[in-house]
Amino acid sequence: DSFFNSIQHAVPPSPTKRHTKISVIGTGNVGMAIAQTILTQDLVDELALVDALPDKLRGEMLDLQHAAAFLPRTKIVASVDYSVTCGSDLCIVTAGARQIAGESRLNLLHRNVALFRKIIPPLAQYAPDSILLIVSNPVDVLTYVAWKLSGFSSNRVIGSGTNLDSSRFRFLIADHLDVNAQDVQAYIIGEHGDSSVALWSSISVGGVPILSFLESQQIAYEKETLENIHKEVINSAYEVIKLKGYTSWAIGYSVASLARSILRDQRRIHPISVLAKGFHGINGGDVFLSLPALLGRSGVLGVTNVHIIEEEAAFIIGEHGDSSVALWSSAS
Ligand code: NAI
Ligand code: 2OP
Repeated sequence: DSFFNSIQHAVPPSPTKRHTKISVIGTGNVGMAIAQTILTQDLVDELALVDALPDKLRGEMLDLQHAAAFLPRTKIVASVDYSVTCGSDLCIVTAGARQIAGESRLNLLHRNVALFRKIIPPLAQYAPDSILLIVSNPVDVLTYVAWKLSGFSSNRVIGSGTNLDSSRFRFLIADHLDVNAQDVQAYIIGEHGDSSVALWSSISVGGVPILSFLESQQIAYEKETLENIHKEVINSAYEVIKLKGYTSWAIGYSVASLARSILRDQRRIHPISVLAKGFHGINGGDVFLSLPALLGRSGVLGVTNVHIIEEEAAFIIGEHGDSSVALWSSAS
């Protein structure tokens, strides 16, 4: 007899609902922070995990499954075989080498491009209609590599980019002013990390544009404070890696918020790594860099026509400083 045989009347079958699925590739610090944040947000029916280490992978799967009594219902599966990602709506790639203290993100390039050659083709095979969201570093170059290896249209290949840098920026500004970070609007764009670009004119707090306010009040030292805050953003990952060995919680929330905007078709604007060709004078090559992008169920729906002053634009296209642009061709 069925466990439910006490139910007397015939129960109609549940109305069919589209099954939604996210796959997370790489179950290290970052992949697991993303996976657990996604689970708490009730975003999908199924979460698939992939890693190259079978014991670690199964351990992480069981540990998450054991939290089922406290979470929205989500089927959690895991395998070293990419067939487990079959039919995913979104594939989040976090696999790969990470920095040791003091090491730059770009130093990971060759190791992680080699891994991507093994990871992206099977993902494209098993989840051909998915959106690829790249997190592994150096994220902008690897997003380009994923785009090339997948053959997907560029609206379906994005990198987490400066969504994290912008969140760090908003936190530090909010902390300085003692307000809620959610009331601080501020964008960092360009390359994730060392040569990111702060869009000074985008900073507003509770709707008040900060830069023009400071200029009208002639409070020059506060502009310097903002510049120091941007330097602190650039140094953030180095500081955290020196202290705890890796970064995980902020990128976990940052990527889960991107996943939500995509799967729930939120049409929110996030600074994320997109194919930047054709925007803001970037005409040279197929460069992936962060720009404020409109995100929905089909991926990138558009890029905002943000006002970028000349000095900022020069940085984005790599005329100043340590240009990342020179590296794109070597990564193909
Ligand atoms: P981790 O070392 O904890 O995890 C990496 C995982 O990748 C390991 O579990 C490893 O077994 C797995 N892996 C290696 N080769 C694989 C393969 N062929 N297939 C499947 N899985 C494979 O490293 P962590 O801390 O999780 O960082 C992962 C990446 O994320 C790094 O490249 C790091 O730099 C990057 N990252 C990017 C951020 C961003 O803002 N874009 C923020 C934080 C980290
Ligand atoms: C971060 O910014 C290391 O890219 C990584 O946290």
